[in-house]
Amino acid sequence: MKRSTFTCTVYNIFVILFLLLSATSIAKDFIEEEGDLDIKRSDFPDGFLFGASTSSYQIEGAYLEDGKGLSNWDVFSHIEGSIENGENGDIASDHYHRYMEDIEILHSLGVNAYRFSISWSRVLPRKFGGVNQAGVLFYNQIIDNLLLRGIEPFVTIHHSDYPQELEDRYGGWLSTLMQDDFVHFAETCFKSFGDRVKYWSSINEPNLFGILGFEIGICPPARCSPPFGNCPHGNSDIEPLIAVHNMLLAHAKAANLDHMKFKRKQGGMIGIILHAIMYKPLTEDKSDQEAADRALAFNIAWILDPVVFGDYPPEMRRYHGSELPRFSPDERVLLRDSIDFIGLNHYASLYAKDCINSRCICNDSSCIQGSDRAIRGFVCTTTEQDGVPIGEPTGMSLSFVVPRGMEEIVNYTKKRHHNKPMFVTENGYSSPYKSFEDYQHDVKRINYHKSYLAFLAQAMRDGADVRGYFIWSLMDDFEWINGYSLRYGLYHVDPRTLNRIPKLSANWYRDFLRNSNSLNKNYI
Ligand code: BGC
Repeated sequence: MKRSTFTCTVYNIFVILFLLLSATSIAKDFIEEEGDLDIKRSDFPDGFLFGASTSSYQIEGAYLEDGKGLSNWDVFSHIEGSIENGENGDIASDHYHRYMEDIEILHSLGVNAYRFSISWSRVLPRKFGGVNQAGVLFYNQIIDNLLLRGIEPFVTIHHSDYPQELEDRYGGWLSTLMQDDFVHFAETCFKSFGDRVKYWSSINEPNLFGILGFEIGICPPARCSPPFGNCPHGNSDIEPLIAVHNMLLAHAKAANLDHMKFKRKQGGMIGIILHAIMYKPLTEDKSDQEAADRALAFNIAWILDPVVFGDYPPEMRRYHGSELPRFSPDERVLLRDSIDFIGLNHYASLYAKDCINSRCICNDSSCIQGSDRAIRGFVCTTTEQDGVPIGEPTGMSLSFVVPRGMEEIVNYTKKRHHNKPMFVTENGYSSPYKSFEDYQHDVKRINYHKSYLAFLAQAMRDGADVRGYFIWSLMDDFEWINGYSLRYGLYHVDPRTLNRIPKLSANWYRDFLRNSNSLNKNYI
């Protein structure tokens, strides 16, 4: 070999080695931030449920058709100024009239499960008025047609909407009377659909419902007090605790009924679903570490400790006075182990800063007023650390892309709640831009799901008993106070024609579910 050729070869080897080393470290950083974007369906066990989620008020429309009564959201969304652009769910995605098309869409995606909720005021429009058979028929059609196509119905009994009459009569979830009305509704659902529904969730996100409806008062029944917000009525320090207390007991009574009267005959599981933000310490200080733990206890364990262990988290007992309601010994027995699974709606992570030992100021304006109060666990939450955002922003304020949070929240729940079976019942991305990206070419949504799935798979490799994953949402829908301005759908719903138009993410999900990976890569 000539000397020059030899030098050149050695040089090349060095260059190649250098490139390989840096590629490995770049790849490592990438994997640490985003997860392995080559995630495949076959990385998940056989029988794992892959689906999409919706909820009744957000997609059905037909708000006064075929005997349906008025719900709290029907009334609230018609109050001027309550919803962005004055929008409401009167028509929503018109799923009530297009459910067959939507079931075909689900089938074409290749999902093996579909999560939806039952509109309480469609099935029981009036407190003393009996069952609305047209409502039962509607959900029967959905369930039967899903099953015909090999899709498991995964049914939420109560997802934010309930008959306004119950609010007007006795104040809804602030009253213990709501527990029995909920049990009556749940029993109606078990009787009407339980022979075919194997997966029931009692209540969607009691924790977030408590905060939005009774602490900051931006959703119905829109109750709050300063410094949390400006509502005509309410007490933000106490009412969220009362409303959630009633929801937990309502859940326990319904689950007990299911376990005693129906489940043995009908098979299946019942769980509860919570809004599961992951909290990380803002600094390395011990007090911020404790603040993050407290935030998890005050948001996640608030719901899960009672339904697994039979009582509120000790952390909450420690910081709340007598305002935290107490369960009687009988209620504790009823609550303990009242779930067969935990549903996690996970979208985002936040930093937590202690407000007990230090001055309660986070480093950006998102710090929620009232962080120095027990109801917030004396924790200030923020999306920035030294001016650096926790992740990429999305269309939803305070919701940033933090894929690793998926692994962390699953591991937290696994550890604290004895690795109960879990389902990720919602995970989704809304684009911050009103652009083509938002409507159809939604590459960021695809990457969001891939990276969150990768961290979910990691948690499962480490032993977490997770049994399913549902994308929020099947289609663009009525996003509560944001109206139609936020879009999470795999399908865009044209506001004029109400036609469903697949986004790139719908094609990606279909390919992912078929395990056709080569196609997968083209989407990046
Ligand atoms: C709720 C959904 C909502 C979604 C996106 C979840 O907390 O369960 O109803 O549309 O977040 O905002």
